[in-house]
Amino acid sequence: MLMGGPRGQFARGPAQPLRSGLPRTLPRALRYLAPSWGWVLLALIGLLLVAVATLLSPQLIRLAVDRGIAAGDPTVILGAAGALLAVAAVRGLATFFQGYGSERAAQGLAYELRDALFTHIQRQSFSFYDTVQTGQLLTRITSDVEQVRQFASAGLLQFVSALTLLLGSVVVLLALNWRLALLALLPLPFIVLTTVRFLRRAGPLFGRVQQQVGALNALLQENIAGVRVVRAFAQEQAEEEKFARANQRLYATGLETLQLIATGFPLVFFLGNLAGVLVVLVGGLEVIGGMLSAGELIAFNSYLAFLLFPLLALGFLSIAAARAEASAARIFEVLESDIEVRDRPDAVPLPPVQGRVEFDHVSFRYPGDQQPVLDDISFTVAPGETVAILGAVGSGKSTLVNLLPRFYDPTAGAVRIDGYDVRTVTLESLRRQIVIVLQETQLIRGTIRENIAFGKPEATDEEVRAAADAAQAAEFIERLPQGYATMVGDRGVGLSGGQKQRIAIARALLVRPRLLILDDSTSAVDAETEAKILAALDRLMRDRHTTVFVIAQRLSTVRDADRVLLLDQGRLVAQGTHEELVAESQLYLDILGSQLRPEAAPAGGA
Ligand SMILES: Nc1ncnc2c1ncn2[C@@H]1O[C@H](COP(=O)(O)OP(=O)(O)OP(=O)(O)O)[C@@H](O)[C@H]1O
Ligand SMILES: [Mg+2]
Repeated sequence: MLMGGPRGQFARGPAQPLRSGLPRTLPRALRYLAPSWGWVLLALIGLLLVAVATLLSPQLIRLAVDRGIAAGDPTVILGAAGALLAVAAVRGLATFFQGYGSERAAQGLAYELRDALFTHIQRQSFSFYDTVQTGQLLTRITSDVEQVRQFASAGLLQFVSALTLLLGSVVVLLALNWRLALLALLPLPFIVLTTVRFLRRAGPLFGRVQQQVGALNALLQENIAGVRVVRAFAQEQAEEEKFARANQRLYATGLETLQLIATGFPLVFFLGNLAGVLVVLVGGLEVIGGMLSAGELIAFNSYLAFLLFPLLALGFLSIAAARAEASAARIFEVLESDIEVRDRPDAVPLPPVQGRVEFDHVSFRYPGDQQPVLDDISFTVAPGETVAILGAVGSGKSTLVNLLPRFYDPTAGAVRIDGYDVRTVTLESLRRQIVIVLQETQLIRGTIRENIAFGKPEATDEEVRAAADAAQAAEFIERLPQGYATMVGDRGVGLSGGQKQRIAIARALLVRPRLLILDDSTSAVDAETEAKILAALDRLMRDRHTTVFVIAQRLSTVRDADRVLLLDQGRLVAQGTHEELVAESQLYLDILGSQLRPEAAPAGGA
């Protein structure tokens, strides 16, 4: 299992193994080098200069041996030495260019990849987040991108320079002495074969390494996020064991990788050296026979090293390539995952909302689940109405309201606002006018002011204070030493549950939405504060004819609502005013008796 459970789009399993033994996804990842083409060019020019300089040196040495040493001419030796010095200088400079250029290009590639990943994840539907593990996702943006970056900087460069050197050496060797050259090239097919075989086995293995790194990160992330639960239940020991097991798996796969690398290449080395031995043997005999000069044999031997070195380098590079390929596959798995909820090509902006809401035979199933969570639900709400939704735990209340801002799309039927099917309007125009205060309060990292003004950063201080006031939050905020400038952590640590809820409500009110959804948003505040919040809300919303959906915990809420929707196991079993439901529905009475907060219960009735 790569990410999350069997229901998501990641259920396809781990990255595709390399069937041909050659990387397929990596070249696509390398396309992200395009914006850094200038640096790529610099690296290529540097690389070519290095190759030419490298290939030139043995010729100069041959000159020194055959024309200088053999002929006893010191000026030739001096000239050759001078030329060698110049070549070395050019080579040094070119090495710097190729290193700098490729590193800059690779940094650019990593930047582009991270950016593309973030943008894609940012647009993902909620069903995506239902199936992915945060740790796996983080690993893809960080570690997997890093693997590709490393290959793009060092690996790719070495790969191209090894190929250049290889081709250059083959040409020069053939020109120098074709019989010796053919002899030297004898081990080539074996080396190529070994490398391809290695790639085939290494690809899936490196995919597994990255997957296990992701699993480790997921464990770590869950442990840190859930630290309070872990401590509260004294589960440190069990958590440590869980981590140790994941760590052990990663270690074992690491060893497997090591073994593959360690056993794959000694044979290549041996074959390479064998070629060297053959050349010394046959070449030495040819020099004695006068068919070859000593200088030529020395030069030939140098070129042979240039031939063997790139071959071995290609072998090692295949390791880096396999690693980067595995990571590239993981990256593209995210980049290519469908975004289920997105703007249609012909989506229109939703005009200013009046607040008429219609559910038309709506059914909904979570992706991968068999049972529908909402089953054929139909109702209509007039603009400005306050609707209370009531139902047992898990009856589908949150799911129902989540369909309004299109956190999910219905499996059947349609949700309409002012007659517009929400799937036909742009997400931006829809969500700007609907505000939902989620059941689980989440504060963003920043000051309290930034949190309240999250949906409207340009809000004035007065607006922020008024919203906080209506949400019954102003009082406690102003008591804090730094007031609205108080920083809250990424989870809002430092505030009580009720305080966080009130900030979340203030955040919703500030936007002055035409359609407001409160999902159990006052569960953590006391009855008195809740009554104050709802009264303030009522004033604000009725002034503006805002349609309000409120998932209720207390009797006062349902009593004051214009309409109550009663859900039971995903079906809408009754709707009407509180008085009507009291008269009609036994389930309603049962829920009033059992579900609602007891302190408010005795005041019921028409
Ligand atoms: N993201 C999800 N993926 C799969 N199933 C889900 C998801 N969220 C909720 N469910 C399932 O859908 C059903 C309805 O859940 P929902 O959250 O809508 O209930 P609820 O009425 O809001 O409950 P509560 O009163 O506890 O908030 C439950 O059986 C739940 O297990
Ligand atoms: Mg809920």
